[in-house]
Amino acid sequence: MATIRSLLIGTGSYVPDFVLTNDILEELVDTNDEWIVKRTGIRERRIGPGMTTWQMGVEAGRKALQSAKVPPEEIDMLILSTCTPDTYSPTVSGYVQEALGLKKAAAVDINACCTGFCYASDIADCYIKAGKAKTILVVSAETLHRITDYTDRGTCVLFGDAAGAAVYRACEDENEQSGILSSFMAADGSGADYLYMEALPVEEDPLHSDRKFSEKNRFLKMQGAAVVRFTASAVPHAIDMALQRAGLTAADVDWVVPHQANLRILQIIAQKFGIPNEKIYVNMDRYGNTSSASIPLCLDEMNDKGLLKKGQVIVCTGFGGGLTYGAFVLRL
Ligand code: UT7
Repeated sequence: MATIRSLLIGTGSYVPDFVLTNDILEELVDTNDEWIVKRTGIRERRIGPGMTTWQMGVEAGRKALQSAKVPPEEIDMLILSTCTPDTYSPTVSGYVQEALGLKKAAAVDINACCTGFCYASDIADCYIKAGKAKTILVVSAETLHRITDYTDRGTCVLFGDAAGAAVYRACEDENEQSGILSSFMAADGSGADYLYMEALPVEEDPLHSDRKFSEKNRFLKMQGAAVVRFTASAVPHAIDMALQRAGLTAADVDWVVPHQANLRILQIIAQKFGIPNEKIYVNMDRYGNTSSASIPLCLDEMNDKGLLKKGQVIVCTGFGGGLTYGAFVLRL
């Protein structure tokens, strides 16, 4: 039986217009540009007050369909990753499916926090390889301003809003060497509390409580240093496993596209694998940490700049709440 490969045939992204600079944050909390740039590498991020996650997802998805030259009715499945859904029901993907006119597409939301795009791409690859779908749109959309506490300097300097998207298509050509070559997805729930935000309060006695939403848990809380310690070993392990499964080594890699969370993890990847810094794509200086949207946002920017070339090997790696982490290897 012919091997089916999942080719990346299109990318898209969207960021809102408002630029939240370090100077603006200096007015909100006790911080300064020097600290933020030195510790995080972030100079500015975008936020879209008044915008929903699905609206951003639609913009990124539309651009990805155009880039792939695929009409909406050819999409078999929409996988939408977000940790900032507009609604628990209906799904965010339901709104995006309708707005993009994906008439025959199955549509599902997934949440793997900042690893969401890696998990969604891996699921897309599984559906394609199983012959259950030919063309899949993955959208990762996040409106992190809605869960960010702008009185907490430990988190508010990090996050921004964005959406990114990718179209994967089945290819059965025996001579085709491109596509998703391998993946490694993992999680370690022992660090679940390091990134925490309550969705629905657990109530002892719903009939006699005043049912007020717990204000203190309305925003994302993070134990930043603990997350850095975790990612320092988890991310290299994920990259190692994904490369091994693809039968490749770091020397074969043209680009590493990491989740844009902190500069230190990029330095760890560079040192551990001997990959030059120029091969590790960075745009967190302009967009900050946009959770699951950050990797497809990078891919689309690279595509627009003409940096993505046929035959190149790309490693995408994500890490975040759960704690989830993972990597996949893609040949363009
Ligand atoms: O996307 C999901 C995954 N997320 C991540 O990977 C994020 C991982 N975490 C990080 O990138 C880093 O932990 C941060 C950039 C968030 C923080 O850097 P850090 O070097 O771990 O700082 P820290 O939390 O250990 O805090 C060091 C000091 C503290 O002051 P004291 O107690 O030493 O006096 C903080 O209060 O820095 C202080 N601090 C700040 N100072 C100025 C924390 N945030 C700020 C700030 N401006 N914005």
